[in-house]
Amino acid sequence: DSLGLEHTSSCNAWSLTISALESSVADHLQCPRSIPARLPSPSFQPPYPGFSVRFPQDVSQLVIAIVGSQHRPSVSPTSVAVSTSHAAISSFLASTRPSTPPSFVEWASVTDNRGYYNLCALAYWDGKSSYESWASSSGFKAWWDGLDADADSQDDDLDQGPGWFLEILSPTTDRFETLFNTDSAREGSSHFAGACMSSAVQEHGYWGSMRDRIPLSQTDVLSANNTRLPSPSQLTDSNADHRKKRITIPRHRNLAIIRSGQDWSTTTPEERKLYLQTMHPILQKGMDFLQNHGKEEVGCYSCRFMHVLDSETEKTDRTFGLAYFDELASLERWSKEHETHLAIFGGFFRYAQQLGNNVTLRVFHEVMVLEEGQQFFEYVGCHGDTGMLASRG
Ligand code: HEM
Repeated sequence: DSLGLEHTSSCNAWSLTISALESSVADHLQCPRSIPARLPSPSFQPPYPGFSVRFPQDVSQLVIAIVGSQHRPSVSPTSVAVSTSHAAISSFLASTRPSTPPSFVEWASVTDNRGYYNLCALAYWDGKSSYESWASSSGFKAWWDGLDADADSQDDDLDQGPGWFLEILSPTTDRFETLFNTDSAREGSSHFAGACMSSAVQEHGYWGSMRDRIPLSQTDVLSANNTRLPSPSQLTDSNADHRKKRITIPRHRNLAIIRSGQDWSTTTPEERKLYLQTMHPILQKGMDFLQNHGKEEVGCYSCRFMHVLDSETEKTDRTFGLAYFDELASLERWSKEHETHLAIFGGFFRYAQQLGNNVTLRVFHEVMVLEEGQQFFEYVGCHGDTGMLASRG
């Protein structure tokens, strides 16, 4: 199940520089396997280098809170309404009151397939108690809990405000993995105090390596057990009844989430042009497929292809796909078999060849498989295709 790249020219250069590979799974999370690894052989050497984030041993759980507002198509992203939402969320994240502010915050936005503008902060904490302490001491929790004062209102005027979403992902480190194509980039969870990058890891460069990098896969198949997606005929257009209501999503066993990022901010003008003309459109197509057909065809409830924003909420040269799958096997299947990821994947190796393998584009991903108690999805006044709202039949 290798990726079929053993004979590319980059392999030769890489195998000359390769010294010792380490496991992507940190030493303290390794245990005797009851489930065989997908690694093709114990001496397998990936065709190019890959790196994973290492956390201090006392970090056993992460919290990633995705807090956002959703604006109707008639509302411009540069409007006062949008900046007011941004200011509301920022005030809690930047609050100096709590003793446990997030380790890292990033803002991102996307206009979704219904034309709504979604603006959100992704905030990271290196423990659940830190998140909870922040949520109460910053006033965020009280604000969030009070948001739907006008729930179920039939008053159209009240319906004009933004929708709000709160998605809290809190994987334990045995249910979390990362892969970076460089050890010099910092993204998401690598910002935790005491975190660092591994040396080159062995578990990548073959299909199934994502699973091998998740420590719990040593002893758990990480399946969702009989999750059945509703057929299209069972789906209702639930836009109207979701407006101005607070909806908490039932928890899903072993929900699989990927945040897959691209950063072309440090590329040369030549590479930048090539990226924007060749890779970016193929990636957009793959993300559009997941957003528009993912649920019925591949088990993807939600996909947002988001632009990272700077402090002035201007778009940067960074994007990420944030996708929620019913289980890890569905995400694996899409990446390995579906024409849209195969096009991204194949396009990337042609891109690298065109650059003589001098790629400075940075790519990374964070993948987690969440058990029921490690997820919380709540929506106030959002349309029915927002995030995990789409998981409802
Ligand atoms: C794996 C390329 C975007 C999902 C890979 C691998 C490459 C690749 C080279 C193999 C990595 C290795 O094992 O060494 C790219 C490029 C992208 C991109 C160049 C964007 C420019 C995405 C996105 C998603 C995704 C947006 C999902 C939202 C996956 C998954 C795997 C994977 C799940 C792991 C498969 C496995 O190990 O079983 N991709 N990809 N990729 N990619 Fe992508």
